[in-house]
Amino acid sequence: MIKPHGAEALTPLYVTDDAERKELIEEAEQLPSVTVSSGAAASAVMLASGYFTPLEGYMNIAEATSVANDMKLLKGLFWPIPIMNIVPDEQLTDAVKNADRIALRDPNVDGNPPLAVMDVSDIETLSTEQKHLIIEKIFGTTDPEHPGVPAFADVGDKVLSGPIQVLNYSYFPEDFPDTFRTAVEIRDDIAARGWETVVAFQTRNPMHRAHEGLCKIAQEAVNADGILIHMLLGKLKPGDIPAAVRDACIRTMVEHYFPENTVSITGYGFDMLYAGPREALLHAVFRQNCGASHFIVGRDHAGAGDFYGPFDAQKIFDTIPEDALEIGIFRGNFTVWSKKRNEIVMMSDSPHDADDYFSISGTKLREMLAAGEPPPPEIARPEVAEILMEYYQSVA
Ligand code: ADX
Repeated sequence: MIKPHGAEALTPLYVTDDAERKELIEEAEQLPSVTVSSGAAASAVMLASGYFTPLEGYMNIAEATSVANDMKLLKGLFWPIPIMNIVPDEQLTDAVKNADRIALRDPNVDGNPPLAVMDVSDIETLSTEQKHLIIEKIFGTTDPEHPGVPAFADVGDKVLSGPIQVLNYSYFPEDFPDTFRTAVEIRDDIAARGWETVVAFQTRNPMHRAHEGLCKIAQEAVNADGILIHMLLGKLKPGDIPAAVRDACIRTMVEHYFPENTVSITGYGFDMLYAGPREALLHAVFRQNCGASHFIVGRDHAGAGDFYGPFDAQKIFDTIPEDALEIGIFRGNFTVWSKKRNEIVMMSDSPHDADDYFSISGTKLREMLAAGEPPPPEIARPEVAEILMEYYQSVA
């Protein structure tokens, strides 16, 4: 199986030994603590799960700046997005300032229980210029209208860095028992299935025909034994469809429209950044860590609005050193229903006149679903549309 990123084996930061974890939880309750941002908590879950191998904790400003500018950790390894724990000044009590070890409390679970214990290496203040630079490099913009920028810009300016030990996986195992999986579990599952070539698919949407077609086209192109559908289970921008609904849609689609035992449906606990190209690189890193040999990057991958060009997230892979990643990238062109071929095609494979493609806008699709009007089968599978209609009508 493909090796993890920059390591011989995964380095999950979850404390697996029960006795050790119990002791740490008791210690954490006594330690000075900060309640971290949702993004930092999600990063702890990713670190715990082995997805962010070989990182050992949160980056300090020097490391984050190196990653932002050069996509490299200070020791030289490729890494595309700073993983930081930034808190507002009021969280920095004297007890925290003077502590070697602190507890990180979970903002997403009632009562804010400790999520991790951190050995504090540095407490630094991010200057406005440093913050501006990091945001600009991650998102390509500092526009507060970008759906990911405020989550970074408004969290404060105190950077707490150092190695962590993680005590739990936050709300993910309880909310998504069938779907939340660690990178360790996914590697084990791939091995158990005997899959050699695995194409991973990132998604934050219910899967429409275009997504389904893209997976099938990619699987055929790389001759994959299996497809790893790996959905985001963390926070999204308002208007995006909740994970539980997407999960149900994807399970229904796979059950009806994919051959048995060719798809593994899983999810990971991270908040969506909407960072387009840089997020695509991070996505590739953690799919390599899952043991996938290939990763699909399609149109406007991890994008939002008009912030990125449709294929910017593919082009960025041409700018990184050849040995930065081992995972292969399947670059997907627009997938769309072809009226001539009566199937989903990739536009670059099937150049037709514009009229020969069947598409409707996302807005129109949402309007139809909210009105209880089944969308055309060229756009959404009827079983999937059923779930979505119920959801949209419940929130209308
Ligand atoms: S994303 O934020 O997770 O990228 P989404 O779940 O919509 O959003 O997309 C999942 C993957 O499918 C991404 O790689 C995206 O580029 C790709 N994709 C979605 N729709 C299309 C399409 N019509 N044509 C090509 N690729 C697509």
